[in-house]
Amino acid sequence: SSPACLPAAACGMVPAWRQAAGALGMGGGEWWRGAVIYQIYPRSFFDSDGDGVGDLPGITGRLGHVAYLGVDGIWLSPFFTSPMKDFGYDVADYCDVDPLFGTLADLDALIADAHARDIRILLDFVPNHTSDQHPWFRESRTSRDNPKADWYMWRDPAPGGGPPNNWRSMFGGGGWKWCEERGQYYYHAFLAEQPDLDWRNPAVVAAMHEVLRFWLRRGVDGFRVDVIWHLLKDPQWRDNPPNPDFRPGEPEVRKLLQIRTCDQPGILDLVKGFRRVLDEFPDTALIGELYLDFERLCGYYGEALDGCHLPFNFHLIMDPWRADVVARSIETYEAALPKGAWPNWVLGNHDNGRVASRFGRGQARVAAMFLLTARGTPTIFQGDEIGLESGVIPPDLVRDPQEKNEPGLPGHDRDIARTPMQWDATRFAGFSTVEPWLPLVPGHETCNVAVEAADPRSMLTLYRRLIALRRARPALAIGDVMVLTGANDVLAYMRCRGDERVCIALNLGASPREVALPEAAGGRIVLSTGLDRDGETVGETVSLGPDEGVVIEVA
Ligand code: GLC
Repeated sequence: SSPACLPAAACGMVPAWRQAAGALGMGGGEWWRGAVIYQIYPRSFFDSDGDGVGDLPGITGRLGHVAYLGVDGIWLSPFFTSPMKDFGYDVADYCDVDPLFGTLADLDALIADAHARDIRILLDFVPNHTSDQHPWFRESRTSRDNPKADWYMWRDPAPGGGPPNNWRSMFGGGGWKWCEERGQYYYHAFLAEQPDLDWRNPAVVAAMHEVLRFWLRRGVDGFRVDVIWHLLKDPQWRDNPPNPDFRPGEPEVRKLLQIRTCDQPGILDLVKGFRRVLDEFPDTALIGELYLDFERLCGYYGEALDGCHLPFNFHLIMDPWRADVVARSIETYEAALPKGAWPNWVLGNHDNGRVASRFGRGQARVAAMFLLTARGTPTIFQGDEIGLESGVIPPDLVRDPQEKNEPGLPGHDRDIARTPMQWDATRFAGFSTVEPWLPLVPGHETCNVAVEAADPRSMLTLYRRLIALRRARPALAIGDVMVLTGANDVLAYMRCRGDERVCIALNLGASPREVALPEAAGGRIVLSTGLDRDGETVGETVSLGPDEGVVIEVA
């Protein structure tokens, strides 16, 4: 039978988070430490009702694939009521499901089925802005003295007329929109249809905490918080200064340094507020979206680890894929982590080009091996496990509002990562019975779940084996890390827990390499991204083929 249809009972292994929690004496609470997380973009996972768009029953129907992969938790991108100007990141009702995706009952069924398989469910919480169709904004815009008048970022025009300051939208153009009805401007960090809430208003904080509780009571296991570092803005509304490093080809917003609109003093108090709400419910996890350097992102754990459990680390997306760079990242990150904090790594998401295209097919396998052997919770973006490449979207089929506002910026088209999941070789890749909302990636006849499940050399098999290995070896799931080398295209590190030692050696280049790794001498290769080398014993020097990575069990 196809892997997507495996019954829950077929996946009865003890989940890694349970083993990890047991080993650490944490009684199952901190499941997110030993876990592997899988991001699902509901529009593009599986279409159960033949409208070309994925939906919640579609996800439930394909949980067999998620279980077959072996992950512990799913983060679902937004499925809430929305006019879909930013494909669900413009929420008009935080506590309901958009009819496009199904009903609350469908979500309950998804949560129940996932939990029956020991898979946790994390929702996407979008607190920075609402849709302009949200009842809060519709009320707020009517006057300067209605009950929601100060829920959004309203300002009078600048003294000489025009917008109050120079803040820009992340999606191109100015960040201020004039509202005739109220006679004021409002700020929007993203689309004009996504007005920013005023998080200095305690009523906003309280209302949003109730949104979290609504879902936690329904049984969800936590949240990924959208653009968490954007929530507060400068209370003096000062201009952002010019960015001397701006280069043509970058989004226009980068002409300014976002020092008055992002990562503001006081933000951690808001994060801690979310965390306190989550702590009212057992075993929950708080993940924050932040494109920040290691030092700043580590601040979001909170001094007493009372902030995010996992502030997302996007350095594999932001930085060049080079052995020296990644080695330095590991060391910088480990040094910046507060005591007891747990790291995490992300290779791709719905906002960036596919890793198979960014790094190339061969290196995407090496990167998968890094992601799943690194110290830190890995997040896998749906489709990366089959090696899906970036989509090719003809101009008349572009859907992404960012791309529409600022066409042609290389690497900033987000549709390319949002193309449908490819399940089989049929006409619409088994995703739908009709033309999907975005085109399939060319070559879906071979790049799909069904074909790859049957191929021992496929990307899907590599992902499954890596996840299984991570589950089986506490050194990989929760052990310490020590960088051995990061030079001459080779990145090697040791993961240790108690007596267990596992060495990982990765060739980030396309030429063969010999690397001296006395620490691994006498060890046995248990997995290679390339040739079949299982069981091979290594000496003081390890040879790596082009684009090859190996996992060596040392003790
Ligand atoms: C985050 C989301 C992105 C969205 C934006 C505005 O970056 O990942 O998809 O457009 O926030 O909500």
